[in-house]
Formats: sequence, structure tokens, C-alpha cells
Amino acid sequence: MRIEMSLKDHSYDILLDHGAILQLSVEIQKWYKGKRIFVLTDKNVYGKHGGSLENVLSDFIVEFVVIEAGESSKSMSVYEYVLETLLDKQMKRGDLLITFGGGVVGDLGGFVAATLYRGVPYIQIPTTLLSQVDSSIGGKTAINSHKAKNMIGSFYQPKLVIIDPNYLKTLSDFEYKNGMAEVIKSACIGDTILFDKLLNGEIKTLEMIERTLLVKKKVVEMDEFDLKERMYLNFGHTFGHALEKQSDFEIAHGFAVAEGMLIALEIGEKIGITPKSIRKSLKLILDKYDLGLYNAKPIPLIEDVFYDKKNIQGELNMIFLKSIGNSVITPVTKEVLYECYNSQTLK
Ligand SMILES: NC(=O)c1ccc[n+]([C@@H]2O[C@H](COP(=O)([O-])OP(=O)(O)OC[C@H]3O[C@@H](n4cnc5c(N)ncnc54)[C@H](O)[C@@H]3O)[C@@H](O)[C@H]2O)c1
Repeated sequence: MRIEMSLKDHSYDILLDHGAILQLSVEIQKWYKGKRIFVLTDKNVYGKHGGSLENVLSDFIVEFVVIEAGESSKSMSVYEYVLETLLDKQMKRGDLLITFGGGVVGDLGGFVAATLYRGVPYIQIPTTLLSQVDSSIGGKTAINSHKAKNMIGSFYQPKLVIIDPNYLKTLSDFEYKNGMAEVIKSACIGDTILFDKLLNGEIKTLEMIERTLLVKKKVVEMDEFDLKERMYLNFGHTFGHALEKQSDFEIAHGFAVAEGMLIALEIGEKIGITPKSIRKSLKLILDKYDLGLYNAKPIPLIEDVFYDKKNIQGELNMIFLKSIGNSVITPVTKEVLYECYNSQTLK
């Protein structure tokens, strides 16, 4: 299926299907007149799928740039390495870059595309569940500073996104679960049918990816530059990020977000926004997908929560649920958080 991301100046298509990768070459030839294509990927993805991507791109001369897998590649040094390698390979302005991998490759490659020659066209081919449902669409690109994640980046939209769930067959269970947290989050903030289907365990991967993407597409189209509605996507992330930090990143993102969603629901209950029944259902879903981390130790610190870059003049915009599919952005002060959060014996 073809889904259009409709943005003011740079709309693009998202192709989603089992086997969608087979359409890559034809899609590129619709608008790309060059012969050379540069592919940024990591060692794992290159090892498992590099050969088949090269076959699909047999009409072109393909040059791979392969980096180490993992978050540490979203760094200044790897960014510089990729830029210099592309220049050594004589990539020209207007040549096409493909990012082929998970969110790390997508975020780094997107930032390379945004900045090399002040912008070259790029295509996202996400290969993890997280990148297929979330990071490959919306145009947020970034690398990390030593101080915090995603501090250096830009909004830069791809020309095309190809999502082929067949890539998920080689993904580890652990990485799959990480991505599931974002699926569940999207269901909470924007899709009651998805929420019910997850609760009943009755959903196929393709439909799950499509529904999750549509939630993100809707908010990105309303708010490309993350000034308002896009914040809904942060549901569960305020406390989730603090928990990741507090655990020294031992707790993976998806598990931290899962816990962060439960904390946000509990605070929402205490300030009279969220009905109690939601937390019960969410716990059932998290258990179903093996994402329960209840009574997480260490407990995220309010001070870390307030370090969030969305803290504006002593108030933090948090996302709460009024009901499934109906989220609200509500500013909370540190005092309110201390009152709600410290007084609770977690769960
Ligand atoms: N730009 C955005 O809007 C946005 C949104 C959410 C997250 N992110 C970013 O995404 C990143 C996390 O992405 P991720 O979870 O995809 O992690 P990742 O890119 O590190 O991939 C996880 C692991 O899976 C491996 N892998 C990838 N595809 C595979 C496949 N098909 N088969 C086997 N192994 C495979 C990778 O080599 C890696 O080891 C973070 O840096 C986060 O900040 C960005």
C-alpha cells in the first residue's frame, strides 16, 4: 500500500508491504536520473540483507558505507567518518543516499543527508520494528552529544520511505519488544481499534505497522516541526527517558517507555484526568508483549524528568490520556509531580 505523508513543501510516499523492497528500483527511477547510489547501513544489517539490497538495485552502481551497529554510532566521530567517506567516494550534490537499518542508521543518515552539500536526497529503508513504525517517518534526524541524546540535528524529510515487514524476520525478540512499546504508545494516544486488537492479541504485523504509522502521520502533518501536536508522541517518554538515564541505559528504551506510560497514567489519575481502567488494560497489553517492568528499580528522578528539553519556565508539558485515543498536553509543575509521584507507592 502507498501512504502519502502530506507536508507543505515536501510530501513523500511511504510504501508499506511484505516485499515492498522489490519496488525500490522502479520507484527511484521515477525521479532520480543518477547512476550511483550510496547506502548507509550497519554491520548487522549489511551482513543479513546487504546482498539482497544490492540485487534489488542492480540497475545502479551501489556504494555501501557500513558502520558499527548500536547507539554509539550516533556520534560526532561516526558522523564525520560517514561524511568524509562519502566525499572520498566522490558523492556529488544531487546523488542519492539510502539509509538502510534501524533508527540509529536512519537518524544519523538523515542528518548526513541534511548537511552534506546543504542537503542531498535520501530514502529511508527501516529494518527494525521501531524504525518501521516510528523513526523513519517524520523527518527528525539527529546525532547525540556527550551530554544528551539527539541534541544535534535537523528536520529533513526523505524522498521516499519503503517499509518491508519481511526484514523483521531476522530481528531479535528483544529489538522487536523495543519497537512494540512505540506501537502500544500510538494505540494509547490515537487508535482505539489498535488498542483493542492488541488487547485481544488479534492483529497481523502489517496492519499493526499501518495503524501505528497512521497515528504518527496525523500528528506530523499537523505539526511538522514539533511545536505542539507532535508532542503527543511523547506519551510515556518524559518518565521513560528519566528511567533510562537513571539506570545508566541498562533499561532499554521500549521497556522504559512502557513503565513511563504507566507512571503518566497514574499521575493522570491523581490529577483527575485519567480513568483508572486504562492502566489496568495497558498492563494487560504490556504483559502480553512481555514489556512489564513494574516496580522498576531505579525509580526515575523528578530532577531528571525536569531536565527534559521540553521543560519551559518551571513547567513541563506532559501527555495524559483522557481516554484511549484521546490525549491531552497538560503543563505540570515540579511541586505537583512531587506530590503525585513521591506520595505513591509505585503500583
Ligand atoms: N527520528 C525519530 O523520529 C526517532 C523516533 C524514535 C527513535 N529514534 C531513534 O532510533 C534509535 C533506535 O532505533 P532502533 O531501535 O531501530 O535501534 P538500532 O538502529 O540500534 O537497531 C537495533 C539493532 O537491531 C539491528 N538490526 C536492525 N535491523 C535488523 C534486522 N532486520 N535484522 C536483524 N537485526 C537488525 C541493528 O544492527 C541493531 O543492532 C535511537 O537512536 C532513537 O533515538 C528516532
